[in-house]
Amino acid sequence: MKKLFTLLLAVAGLGSLWAQTTREHFNIDKGWRFAFGHATDFTKDYNYGTNYFSHLAKTGYGEGITTAAFDDRSWRLLNLPHDWAVEQPFDQKGSLSHGFKAIGRNFPEASIGWYRKVINIPESDFGRRISLAFDGVYRNSEVWVNGHYMGNEPSGYLGFEYDITDYVNYGGDNQIVVRADATFEEGWFYEGAGIYRHVWLNKTDKLHVATDGTFVTSEVKDGQAELSISVAVQNDGLQRRNFTMKHILTDAQGKEVATDNLLELYVLPYKTQEVVSQLTLDKPVLWDLDNPHLYTLTTTVYDNGKAIDTYTTTIGIRTIRFDNNEGFFLNGKHVKIKGTNNHQDHAGVGSAMPDGLQEYRIKVLKSFGSNAYRCSHNPPTPELLDVCDRLGILVIDEHRMMGSSLLQKDDLKRLIDRDRNHPSVISWSVGNEEWGIENKVSGARIAQTMQGYVKSLDSTRPATAAFSGSIGSKGITTTLDLLGINYIVNKSTDDQHKLFPAQSIWGTEEGSTHATRGVYFRDDEKHHIPAYDKAPNSSFISIEDGWKHYASRDYLGGMFIWTGFDYRGEPTPYAWPSIGTYFGMVDQCGFYKDDAWYLKSWWGNEPVLHLLPHWNWEGKEGQPIEVWAHSNCDEVELFLNKKSLGKKKMEANSHLQWMVNYTPGTLEAVGYKNGKKVLTDRIQTTKAPATLALTGNASTIKANDTDIVMVTVAVKDKNGLAVPTAEDEVGFSIKGPGRIIGVGNGNPSSLERDRFIETIETAPIENLKEKIVTATTGNEALVTESYDATGWDNAFKDDRTQEFGQKAPALVYRGSFTLPQWQKDATITLFSSNIGVEQSVYVNGKLVAANLKQKAELVLPHDILHTGANSIAIVATPILKNRPWDFINMNPGLVRIFTPAPQWKRKLFSGLAQVIIQSTGEAGSIELTATGNGLKPATLTVKAQK
Ligand code: GAL
Repeated sequence: MKKLFTLLLAVAGLGSLWAQTTREHFNIDKGWRFAFGHATDFTKDYNYGTNYFSHLAKTGYGEGITTAAFDDRSWRLLNLPHDWAVEQPFDQKGSLSHGFKAIGRNFPEASIGWYRKVINIPESDFGRRISLAFDGVYRNSEVWVNGHYMGNEPSGYLGFEYDITDYVNYGGDNQIVVRADATFEEGWFYEGAGIYRHVWLNKTDKLHVATDGTFVTSEVKDGQAELSISVAVQNDGLQRRNFTMKHILTDAQGKEVATDNLLELYVLPYKTQEVVSQLTLDKPVLWDLDNPHLYTLTTTVYDNGKAIDTYTTTIGIRTIRFDNNEGFFLNGKHVKIKGTNNHQDHAGVGSAMPDGLQEYRIKVLKSFGSNAYRCSHNPPTPELLDVCDRLGILVIDEHRMMGSSLLQKDDLKRLIDRDRNHPSVISWSVGNEEWGIENKVSGARIAQTMQGYVKSLDSTRPATAAFSGSIGSKGITTTLDLLGINYIVNKSTDDQHKLFPAQSIWGTEEGSTHATRGVYFRDDEKHHIPAYDKAPNSSFISIEDGWKHYASRDYLGGMFIWTGFDYRGEPTPYAWPSIGTYFGMVDQCGFYKDDAWYLKSWWGNEPVLHLLPHWNWEGKEGQPIEVWAHSNCDEVELFLNKKSLGKKKMEANSHLQWMVNYTPGTLEAVGYKNGKKVLTDRIQTTKAPATLALTGNASTIKANDTDIVMVTVAVKDKNGLAVPTAEDEVGFSIKGPGRIIGVGNGNPSSLERDRFIETIETAPIENLKEKIVTATTGNEALVTESYDATGWDNAFKDDRTQEFGQKAPALVYRGSFTLPQWQKDATITLFSSNIGVEQSVYVNGKLVAANLKQKAELVLPHDILHTGANSIAIVATPILKNRPWDFINMNPGLVRIFTPAPQWKRKLFSGLAQVIIQSTGEAGSIELTATGNGLKPATLTVKAQK
């Protein structure tokens, strides 16, 4: 019965199904403990690495903090994904690349993060293969399981998996410990810090499909698809295993469309066997941008007729072709690539994106007609590619650093193995602007090796690299089949095409123009750049000029704008106190800048008419204001207060502009197609802000602890017009089963907080002294607040032998702890650990716990505490060693000052702010209320449904 009970508990704890014989894949993002270590002072890094024999010296020699015995009760409790960088304040000493967040070299106290989590693994799992998979930890992570060192992953972007089978405590708790070191940067853009992607617990039979072990490619001909399926079957056991295999292909509706049985297979112990087969599918539904149809291949491995592993691979059937003269083809149809570059960084949450946010962002990009995404400049989070597959967007999947050493080749292989079944991925990028080599022969050699290596792993997609050097150099432009050009302003794609006519070319970066959302006059003091699409200087060209170049040349596959979304870091052309970029077509929240309307006009399929700027120019009456229209109408006529300012003809891939002397009122544009009025857009001078307005991108979300709703905050005047210049500060409160996980407003020079979280400070118990006494009673004089114990012995001076026990029936310990100033709502807790078999604890002379036999969390009343020094006295019976090597606890615990999160708030910027709300798991109504000085509050209700 007990066994059954443990199993139930374990399974319930992991939110899974009943115990299985086939593969199980659990998400273990919930309930991690987190605390900072220290990058330069090991005493503040839990003395990590100071043991005589370290974890690198002997198996199982994990130091204190890496073991289950370590006391982490005072640590912060959080769910993954987690980015601690985004929670840090901004500081001018921080790195420009990381958006001046206070992490990195100058902040050793905030650059090491420790994570701990306990998982229960039932006894019934004994005999299976158990592994822990991390999708990505930024960076240089080390992992321990039950004090055993599992390994180190330098990359902040690659996933990694540890087989923990032999280290597991079956039928009990297992301690996972992760140390992440974000002192160094891998990129030159904001990268976040910590376990910012999912973590999984995998359980399989010893005979199982290898991780990322399937590869399905397809050829489409005459209404049929010929699928080539390769499955790597791994035997992690001591015996040769015979097996059979079955593939079932189901379509998006779950209907079985093809099957295959593979018989008489075997794999030797500790070997991996490749099982290759073909499957023919009649009338396949192709994966396309408008109809991204996905099939599921379910592969089951049988041992003696018993299913022992089931592995699913999501695939899309499609063909791609890059043509040196005609560009890119998807399923035989020409598609001009209209892409953007993006980093994984969003307002409020940084790199720790819930899956729903990946989806939101791709939808924003698609909304202005973008059909492609470049993962600059690193392997993306797997769920991003899932979304791209599902929503239909093409992807350049990028390797972090160009190179052909074993390390880089191995990293490249891991990326390709992981992502090769995603139909969205159309090219592997092996490098970006590698200034040190891209113009040199060595660069050509490296690129050639990498390209060849890519072909050996996946012959269905070309390698590419983003080139920023000079055409005609001896470097990487001479060797790549598909060359990426970064910025045509200083190099001619035509020249390259003439030099290497057999090569395909696309624009991997174009743009890098600067714009602040909703701002139309430059203000260098405020770091504001007008949002008209203009080249910032002669080193750049406008988005429009870039697109005209790519749109007008058939041989070019298309282009990727730098960037889709703004991101933290690289605040070009400014520096501190700007903390984010101005490059985006949308800001850090995903709010459109005007350029997104330009793209929507020429990239999208719907009629578009968008006027800029806004029409609130108090103080500029009579002065000329530049008015632009982004539109795909044939003609646009502009009216100011009903008076026509002329009709203009639109040229393809262009925009229209007027100079208009400012008079308050209404500016209206009317768009014509074929002489017929099809659209109008109107901007109006507004009154002062009066009422807050909240809009969610969904009215219901899943009550699953991860789903999100993106809320836009705006403010309206008394006539209900949104005020585009509002900068009011808005406070947020939330009720029901939701939590706020981040706020932002898209202002690249705002130093406001992204997250409002609890503060945890700890005070160790110091100067611990001891005095032997005859009994645990009658020690009142020794435990008073001000007793002077200077003359006592240092605690634990004598070894706790049985002889010591005979001379010491009881002891009084005295020590002190120092408290900082605390807030009224702080909770101050002594996390006590017993240094006696039984002990009573006094703080400043007041008894706070009597006769404790085990660890306790003692909440200390504020009125017995002082800012500064406090005394602690412990009356205890001694713990004695049975054997000389026994470990006895000598640490009485520590005091934690927990200050709850302050109220969430954010200023509006150019009239908007964003709040991200996440489900807390339960069903019910989530109510977000926004309040601001002199403004009518607003409440948004979102239903969380099971
Ligand atoms: C490119 C680079 C990008 C970004 C951009 C800014 O050179 O590849 O990562 O830094 O410049 O203009």
